Amino acid sequence: KRPLIALGIETSCDDTCAAIVTSDRQILSEVLRTQHHLHEPMGGIVPKLAHHAHMRNLPSVVQEAIQSAGLGERGIQAIDVIAVTRGPGLAHCLGVGLNAAKTLAAALNKPLIGVHHMEAHALTARLTTRDPDLPTQDASSSESSVPIGSDPYPSFPFLTLLVSGGHTMLLVAHSVDRYTTLATTLDDSIGEAFDKTARELDIPWLPGRAGGPGASLEEFAKGSTDPERYLNRLPIPLSLRSGKSEMKFSFAGLKSAVTRIVNQEKAGSPIGEMDENKRQDLAAGFQNCAVTHLCQKVEQALVDCHEQGMDISSLVISGGVGRNATLRSRMDEICSRFEHGGAIATDKMSSKEKKKLKRGSSLNATAASKETTTRAARPVRVICPPPKLCTDNAVMIAWTGLERYQQGLTDPYDIDIVPKWPL
Ligand code: KG4
Ligand code: ZN
Repeated sequence: KRPLIALGIETSCDDTCAAIVTSDRQILSEVLRTQHHLHEPMGGIVPKLAHHAHMRNLPSVVQEAIQSAGLGERGIQAIDVIAVTRGPGLAHCLGVGLNAAKTLAAALNKPLIGVHHMEAHALTARLTTRDPDLPTQDASSSESSVPIGSDPYPSFPFLTLLVSGGHTMLLVAHSVDRYTTLATTLDDSIGEAFDKTARELDIPWLPGRAGGPGASLEEFAKGSTDPERYLNRLPIPLSLRSGKSEMKFSFAGLKSAVTRIVNQEKAGSPIGEMDENKRQDLAAGFQNCAVTHLCQKVEQALVDCHEQGMDISSLVISGGVGRNATLRSRMDEICSRFEHGGAIATDKMSSKEKKKLKRGSSLNATAASKETTTRAARPVRVICPPPKLCTDNAVMIAWTGLERYQQGLTDPYDIDIVPKWPL
């Protein structure tokens, strides 16, 4: 049986994207036309400009994706499924992609799949990342012949942390079409917090290095000799220790604290400037605080999920800020203390965690530790899909289309956009 082929279209924001992906995980083509140059001088995304650029660019983007996919003599007829972002996003922009997809699907008599943009971000890891610890099903088969839904790809349920300029979100993926949002941000996104702080600290931009101001801040912070210099003046947002265990993110307070420290340091300096050592220490302090904030919520989520009997297999970190090495290693450290396929490794938990687990769970700590020894539990894995597929793209839309199609989840040709679409 030949693999299925999907065309994906994504126009929810400021990139016009089309891609062709197969159910055996091959990316046959991907085309992305950015509108960055149009919006940058305006200081932000202008919906009307984005709408017009999508209208102008989408036909040739789709044409290029089809022509460069090597579809053979059947050409476009070889495509089995047409998937498109339905929301959330900018209404007029979504409309351009959706109408193109609906018309193509109807004209070619192919199934149409309307995709939730955030679900697609969450499912990307199932396309890109196999578990190196698990054998392929058949020793002679290549990685690409492992069918959808089977290990060694991240199995449901898993946690996804989306951390970028546009999203700051922690969610549980229960299945292809069921998700729960655990936390979103009350104010700035984490990417904005990194960008604003980098600007506040006059951190030199590193041309040619991917990742923008956030990546420059990370590099700059490596020069810090006293990362704890400002420890007491940088609050960890919504910290458990302050009694509030709310599952929410917030970065505005941390950003203001940085500004306050910069102003105080400048005022106290004879030349009205903050020297480089101190700026490096503050950059490191900020990064540490922001990462600790994310870590506390992820840890809380792992405990909560366990209490609810959810066997979380992995934590998928996605989005530009996911490139941050401090973030990755701290998340690794946390996840290694939790296990799946068995029970939480209580022997590795702090007494506070154990108490919490005992209080809320039907499974008491002793039973849990017994289970870890009798069941083949493995640590919760941290998975970071390749950066290119963590930002907005049509590959993730095509892939989600394939996952949904195989569950029988198709849509009629008259579906509408859903600009505000909760998970
Ligand atoms: O996902 P992404 O590339 O695109 C948008 O959301 O637009 O995320 C971009 C964000 C920017 O705020 C950038 O400063 C941040 O990700 N970023 C980082 C790092 N690399 C990129 N933040 C912290 N550390 C990094 N290494
Ligand atoms: Zn996105």
